[in-house]
Amino acid sequence: MVKKICGIGAGYVGGPTMAVIALNCPSIEVAVVDISHSRISAWNSDKLPIYEPGLEQIIQQCRGKNLHFSTDVEKHVYEADIIFVNVNTPTKTGGRGAGKAADLTYWESAARMIADVSRSNKIVVEKSTVPVRTAEVIEKILVHNSNGKVEYQILSNPEFLSEGTSIQDLLNPDRVLIGGNDSLKGQEAIQKLKAIYANWVPEDRIITTNVWSAELSKLADNAFLAQRISSINAMSALCESTGADISQVSCVLSKNTKLGSRYLNASVGFGGSCFQKDILNLVYICECNGLVEVANYWKEVIKVNDYQKSRFVKKVITSMFNTVSGKKIAVLGFSFKKDTSDTRKTPAIDVCKGLLADNACLSIYDPRVSEEQIRRDLSMNEIPWENSIMAEAMRFDGTKQVSVYEDVYEATKDAHGICVLTEWDEFKEIDYQRVFESMEKPAFVFDGRNVLDVDKLREIGFIVYSIGKPLKQWQSC
Ligand code: NAI
Repeated sequence: MVKKICGIGAGYVGGPTMAVIALNCPSIEVAVVDISHSRISAWNSDKLPIYEPGLEQIIQQCRGKNLHFSTDVEKHVYEADIIFVNVNTPTKTGGRGAGKAADLTYWESAARMIADVSRSNKIVVEKSTVPVRTAEVIEKILVHNSNGKVEYQILSNPEFLSEGTSIQDLLNPDRVLIGGNDSLKGQEAIQKLKAIYANWVPEDRIITTNVWSAELSKLADNAFLAQRISSINAMSALCESTGADISQVSCVLSKNTKLGSRYLNASVGFGGSCFQKDILNLVYICECNGLVEVANYWKEVIKVNDYQKSRFVKKVITSMFNTVSGKKIAVLGFSFKKDTSDTRKTPAIDVCKGLLADNACLSIYDPRVSEEQIRRDLSMNEIPWENSIMAEAMRFDGTKQVSVYEDVYEATKDAHGICVLTEWDEFKEIDYQRVFESMEKPAFVFDGRNVLDVDKLREIGFIVYSIGKPLKQWQSC
C-alpha cells in the first residue's frame, strides 16, 4: 500500500501535479519538496509562485491536510514509497552538446540524494521530460550509490499538461502514460502507480509501455505540437503574399477529421519552456544516432518559429515608415500564452529585443507578469541555438528604453503602435476608441495572436496588421 509520496521539484509541473494527486487520494500523504526556499515559502503563502486557473482552490483545500510543501528534501524522500522527480531539465549551456542536449545536472543530483538517504525500497518516477534512455543512467546512479539493500524501480511517467489549463488537464487527462520494465517487479511498480491515477482517471486512458517508448513519446508529442504550429505559421507567411486569409485556411483544415481542429491558430510564434528545448533535445539524440536527415527535419520547426518572430519585428518596423527609433510602442502581453505568468522562451522577449535593437521605446502591459520578471527577461543574454536568426536581437539589452505599466490605457497613451503578443481575453474588451484617441497618428496595431476584431479597429481608424490576413487597407496607406 502506498502511504507516502514525495515530489521533488515544486515548479510548474511539480506543484500542480502533486496537488491534484493529493486532492484525489486523501489517504496518501503528499510532500512537495524543493531546494528553493523562496519557492517553498511562496507555496506555503497566500501568493502562490505560479498562476494557474483553479490551482489556488485546490491548494487551499489540501494544504496542511495531506499536502505539504517543504525544503526538508531528505526527510520526505526517506519516508516516501514513491518519489516523483519533477526537476527542471533545461538545454545545456556549456560542454558537449551545449545548445541542444538536455542538462541532467538537477536530475542527477536528485538521484544521488535519493540513493544517499533511502533505507527502504522505492519507486522512482521520471516526471520531468528527459532524453530517451535516461532511466538507465538514473538506475546506475541509484544502484551504485546505495548500500545494496534498497531496491529501486524506475518508471517513466511524462507529464502532458499545458500551462494555462494545467489543472483541467490534470483533473481530466486525455491520457496518462506509464513506462516500466518487463520484469515482475517492474510490472508491479507500474500497477502501483496505475492504482494511484485510477482514483480519478478512467483506466482506458492509462497507457502502459516500456520505459524507452514512454520517454521518447513525450519528446515526440511536443515535437508534433510545435511542428503543427510552425506549419500553420509558415502558411500564414504565404497567405500574406498571396491574399489568402489564414483564418479561412485554418477553418478548412480544422474540418478535416484526419487533422483535427486544435493548434491551427497562426501567431507570432510558440514559446514556453518546453517546445524548443525538447525539439533540440530530440535533434541531439538523432545526431548522436547518426540520423542527420531526421535531425535536420526537426530543426526546421524551430527555424520557422524564429522566422515568424523576426518576420513580425520586420513588419512592425517597415510599416512604421522603416524605423521605430524613438517611437513609443505599447506591448500588450508578455507571458508565452494566456492564463499563465510563465515567460520562459516567450516570443515577447525576442520581439521586444528586436524592436529595442531598432531603438524603440517600449511600454509593456501584462495582467500577470511582474515588472521585475519582464526586466530580468529583457536583460538576459540567452545563448542562441546554432541556427538562430534571432541571435542579434537576443544579445540586445535595452531595458532602459522599457517602461512597464499596470494599466493598459497608460501603456498605450501617446504610443505610435500597439503589438499584441499574448492572447489574454481581456485584450478583446479594451475600449479601443479611447485608446485610439490617446495615440499618435497614424495609429498602428500589430495583432501577433489574431485575437482582435480587425474590422472594428479599422473602422475606428487604426492601421491593422494581423498574421496571415489580407492587407488591403494596410497597403493603401
Ligand atoms: P521549474 O523550473 O518550474 O521547476 C523545477 C523545480 O525543481 C525548481 O523549483 C527547482 O528549484 C527544483 N529543483 C531542481 N533541482 C532540485 C533538487 N535536486 N532537489 C529539489 N528540487 C530541485 O520546471 P517545470 O516547468 O516544472 O518543469 C519540470 C520538468 O517537467 C521539466 O523536465 C519539463 O520539461 C517538464 N515539463 C514541463 C511542462 C511545463 O509546462 N512547464 C509540461 C510537461 C513537462
